[in-house]
Parts: sequence; C-alpha cells; structure tokens
Amino acid sequence: MAILKIARMGHPVLAAPARPVEDPTAPGIRRLVSDMLETMQDAGGTGLAAPQVHVPLRLAIFFVSGPRAAREDGEGGRGEDKNVPLTVLCNPTIEPLDREMAMGWEACLSLPGLAGEVPRYTSIRYRGVTPTGEELVREANGYHARVVQHEFDHLDGILFPQRMRDMKKLVFTSEMKHLAAAGEALAEIED
Ligand code: NI
Repeated sequence: MAILKIARMGHPVLAAPARPVEDPTAPGIRRLVSDMLETMQDAGGTGLAAPQVHVPLRLAIFFVSGPRAAREDGEGGRGEDKNVPLTVLCNPTIEPLDREMAMGWEACLSLPGLAGEVPRYTSIRYRGVTPTGEELVREANGYHARVVQHEFDHLDGILFPQRMRDMKKLVFTSEMKHLAAAGEALAEIED
C-alpha cells in the first residue's frame, strides 16, 4: 500500500483519453486499486480515477455515503441511491436514461481549493468490469449519478470546468460562504 501523488490540472495525464485495462484481474491492477483506495482515503475524496494518480488507464473507484447522498439529493432523493459501497470499475461506459440535467457543485482532488457548478444527467445507467472480472451494471440517480459522471469524465481527459456553463460559478471553496449568503447550495463532490 502506498499513498500516490495526485496529478493537478495542467498535467497532460489529466487531459488525454486513458487506455483500456487489458486484464482487470491482473495483480498489477489489484495493487493499483489498493494504492488508489489508500490515496483517496488520505485525501478525503469520494472517488478517484487512475489518471489522477498518473496512470493513464480506464479505471475508477468511488463510493457514496448514505448521509452525504441524502444531504445532496434532499427530500426528493431516491432511496436506492442513498448508499453505494466502494466500487472499482475498469473500462466503464455510461448512458443517460433521461435528457434531464441538473446543476450541482463539484470539487476535484486535481483542482485543490476550487469548486464549480456543473450540469450532469440526473439519471444514468453505467457498466464496467470489476477486478474479479465480473461485469457490473447499475442505474444511478442524483448525487450517485453525478459522482459517476465526474469520475468517468477523468478517463476521457475531461475535468469538471470543461463541463461548466458559467465560469463565474468557478470559485475557491474558501469563498463559497458568499454564495451561501446568496442562497446557493454548498454541496460539493471532493474527487
Ligand atoms: Ni475529479
């Protein structure tokens, strides 16, 4: 186990599409996942993609805590998405189940100190291969869907500011109190 260095915006590894994982069950992948988990926990993130630790492979890890999802989704949140256990996916794909998008605040370990308001599909289906070689298929809504879209974007070299519609909504987290005064949501994803 090792804590890996996290690439920050501007490093080319974050801007290029990552390569497919040839064998998700390979010992090298298991070691990488173990190190990514330790790195994510150390950094306090809810997700981490391999390019963020300078490994250009299509692999991401994430989880959603029940209380966090409940806070982000509010009363309208859907019960099945409240708790998502730690998930490791290789070569994932994603399809929107609805054209509806919602705005929400996100942050990223590769853009430390910043947060932005990002549109994301509210309802998706995603699939990928786990490190035991099984295919996983899930449907996700709300905050869960947002986390997945953010993580999988990393595999295509996309960072959250590139999804933003209004760059005035790219702010330092330390200044978000001013948005709170304006009635803005303070929700954010740290990954
Ligand atoms: Ni990120």
